Amino acid sequence: MRIVKIVVPFSLALLVSSSEASVADCAAQKVEAMARACTHLLGAEARFLSNRNEAGLERRHALVDGRVDDAWASAEAGGGPACVDATERSGVAVQRLANAIARVGALAPGPVCGRKLLRLLRSPCRQAAALEAVALRDPSEAEVERARVISRIRRRILSRWSASGCAGSPTGEEAVRAAFRVAGVAAGNATSRTFRDLGDAVGLPIGVAIEPHEVSASEVYRQRLEHESSSLTAENVMKWGAIHPAPQTWNFGPADAIVNRAEASGARVRGHTLVWGALQLPAYVRNASTAAELEIYLADHIAGVVGRYAGRVEQWDVLNEPLSGILDPPTSDGLDDNVFRRLLGPGYIELALDLARAADPSAKLYVNENGVHVPGPRQERFFQLIQALIQAGAPIDGVGFQAHVGIAPPAVYTDWSTLEASIRRFADLGLDVELTELDVSLVFRPGSLATRLEQQERDYRDIFEACLRVSGCRGVTMWGLSDQYTWLRSFFGFDDYPLPFGDAWERKPAYFGVRAALFAGWLGQPES
Ligand code: XIL
Repeated sequence: MRIVKIVVPFSLALLVSSSEASVADCAAQKVEAMARACTHLLGAEARFLSNRNEAGLERRHALVDGRVDDAWASAEAGGGPACVDATERSGVAVQRLANAIARVGALAPGPVCGRKLLRLLRSPCRQAAALEAVALRDPSEAEVERARVISRIRRRILSRWSASGCAGSPTGEEAVRAAFRVAGVAAGNATSRTFRDLGDAVGLPIGVAIEPHEVSASEVYRQRLEHESSSLTAENVMKWGAIHPAPQTWNFGPADAIVNRAEASGARVRGHTLVWGALQLPAYVRNASTAAELEIYLADHIAGVVGRYAGRVEQWDVLNEPLSGILDPPTSDGLDDNVFRRLLGPGYIELALDLARAADPSAKLYVNENGVHVPGPRQERFFQLIQALIQAGAPIDGVGFQAHVGIAPPAVYTDWSTLEASIRRFADLGLDVELTELDVSLVFRPGSLATRLEQQERDYRDIFEACLRVSGCRGVTMWGLSDQYTWLRSFFGFDDYPLPFGDAWERKPAYFGVRAALFAGWLGQPES
């Protein structure tokens, strides 16, 4: 009996770990094939810039495609279905890499410099992408190897580019970044590492907003969530109306389920949200008639919720959407015309922050807002509000950019270099910044679904990349994981596909965009 007890779990563990090892090894082979493809595709594009021979370019692409396909097929023979499931399909991966490379060629003005740039990146791309194979096969080696390889690559690109006669546009640093970006696409489409693995490597919590009942009803959801996320947020169950629907009624069960789930898997919790004047506010609060009454409700609520999870919820959206809504009639001070502002004045914001600080001095306190990830009057108003809070000495640690891309503001898909600048602007105030509710809506975008899904891949890639480039950007939370459960369908009734996983939990192009950015971010991390 004793032997069985020992042998069975042990051999099972061996089985599991050997199949994990074979998936990792399969993915490593795929990564290596893509790393080689990167060199070849850069060469093909460089040639194309000088001869403009489309048929020649196509022939070369087909050749690379065939090679990658063969290499992946033989890798999959050892890695099995889990390795097929974990990565992009080879033809799509190669096409995506070729597209990314074509954009690099266009960074330099004119074909001569474009060609030099592409040729310069050939071996750096291969070497950088191949680091992902090291990370898959021997994680303990990855960091050391990265430091070694990356400093060599950086030196090589900077010195050769400055001697190229083309330096300046792009700059040497931009050329290095382009190398990491294409290496990211090469590796991100081929690896089996998850958002969580890749996020851990680069120190970025990867969050998902969930409804606990949806997760517990689906085994595949549970698994995907556990693999991909390192931070959880309640999509609804911590909101005032859900958790504290009447003065003496507390409904902590579903929120507890999220906190427990997070703790069981070593994830953190972002608390969302304590004070939201616009929606999901119970009638007793909405209909409060005096300032004194409302102040009591506010103090009770914040002490009750924050106190319950003190030390367990790492950060709180203390205020959600304090600005007046994008589609609402404007107010005199730009603040949302809600019961708190009406009865307590704009000082309710500071009051709520003070109450939260008192209830858990260790929690990071955020003000979360929509539509502020793009520059413009709304971001200005938000900036003023935050600056004023800091000047008044209010306990604020961070700001959340909701980042419902394409929805708030509607139909705006900006050039994401502005996102980096926007994040930096708030980080420069000494605050943490997070993207707290990321999704990328397709409803207001023209074009076929396939085209829009590829654009969405680039959006996710650029958005994660923007966050990774600012040290004060501390996390990205997606407002769901699979399109199947998106609020853009249930709340707005849109036929939308805003998240990295599809309805059947298949990995969408956006999924690989996130991976590519996380890997590129790791490559580009400053030396410590
Ligand atoms: C949304 C939820 O996703 C929906 O299920 C609910 O019906 C309404 O609220 N900004 C926020 C989030 O801060 O709390 C909102 O969540 C989405 C917009």
